[in-house]
Amino acid sequence: MNKIPLCEPDIGELEIKYVTEAVRNNMVSSSAPPVRNFENAFAKFFGAKYAIATNSGLSALFLVVKALGIGPGDEVIVPTFTMVATPESVSHNGATPVFADCGKLNPGIDAGEIEKKITSKTKAIIVAHLFGIPCDMEPIMRVAEKHNLPVIEDTAEAHGATYRGKFCGTFGKAGCFSFYASKIMTTGEGGMIITNDDALAAMAKRLREYDINPKQPYIHELAAWNLRMSALEAALGLAQLERLKELIGKRNAIAARYAAGLSNIKGLEFMAVPPQTEISTWLCTVLADRRDELVEYLAKENIDAKRVFVPMHDLPPYKQSGNFPNAEYLAEHGISLPSASTLSEKDQNYVIEKVKKFYSGQ
Ligand SMILES: Cc1ncc(COP(=O)(O)O)c(C=O)c1O
Repeated sequence: MNKIPLCEPDIGELEIKYVTEAVRNNMVSSSAPPVRNFENAFAKFFGAKYAIATNSGLSALFLVVKALGIGPGDEVIVPTFTMVATPESVSHNGATPVFADCGKLNPGIDAGEIEKKITSKTKAIIVAHLFGIPCDMEPIMRVAEKHNLPVIEDTAEAHGATYRGKFCGTFGKAGCFSFYASKIMTTGEGGMIITNDDALAAMAKRLREYDINPKQPYIHELAAWNLRMSALEAALGLAQLERLKELIGKRNAIAARYAAGLSNIKGLEFMAVPPQTEISTWLCTVLADRRDELVEYLAKENIDAKRVFVPMHDLPPYKQSGNFPNAEYLAEHGISLPSASTLSEKDQNYVIEKVKKFYSGQ
């Protein structure tokens, strides 16, 4: 029996068609039409004024922090419970990530905890919508507005999730997405910034591509980077975007089957979801007693399940003292179960059966 993967890309005929067309038409570079087409389609899907494609989710976050003029001496409040790219977008700009705890049983950064960490050096707040579960944005935006701080949304794991009818990634100054191979939609590697802010969009574009000015060839006013997406990745992205609702539907159906199949098991809890949200399941993640034993047991049964993040305040580059009980609880108990949109019902039933067996002790 092949191992049931935690996640895998869901590539179909449409993706093959678009990528083949791009190759056949010699459209491979970042200046070829598929990149502009993908940006335009993405902006339209999310109702954003601008979409700016990048070579990764980290690049998207990094560029937004940079374009906001944040640098040495500045602080940015970020969740401690997140993937490491979130604080790296701050530290690679020479600024300091200051960690705040998440909610109880909810992976999103908590508004009250954000407010406790605000100082005169704070220049922005980054929230991360993890596992496809939106953060509780209303209190977060209230705190941000009260202190006049821009909010950046790390939406790497929540393409298409909504909070009170509005897409995650459209509440703050900018939303940043990842299209890494495991994500809800993929370009292999890649990312996207969405924003309605003219100045932010203009600066992010300049910094993304060597500050090239077509009117003045080889005159670069700013020291910048090459963080561009290629046309091949964009062609893949265009197809995945056309299928996004289908991909989300499949992943949410998987989450619903886990919820039904694993309810009422002593030792397992489900994450809390803020009211009036529609999740876009990335990895269906539950909280489990004896989590590490469960991961090992499932591995022996050919099931690839994975522990969740180690909180950022515990990682060597980011060690920070503080009180983060909710993040620590999630980090100790969180386990992501196979959630690929390609997962068959038969394989999922096998996973459910094995998890039940683990807790029944048989
Ligand atoms: C929450 C979060 N933020 C940022 C990233 C970074 O994205 P990428 O791997 O495309 O750089 C990821 C995914 O890897 C992520 O899960």
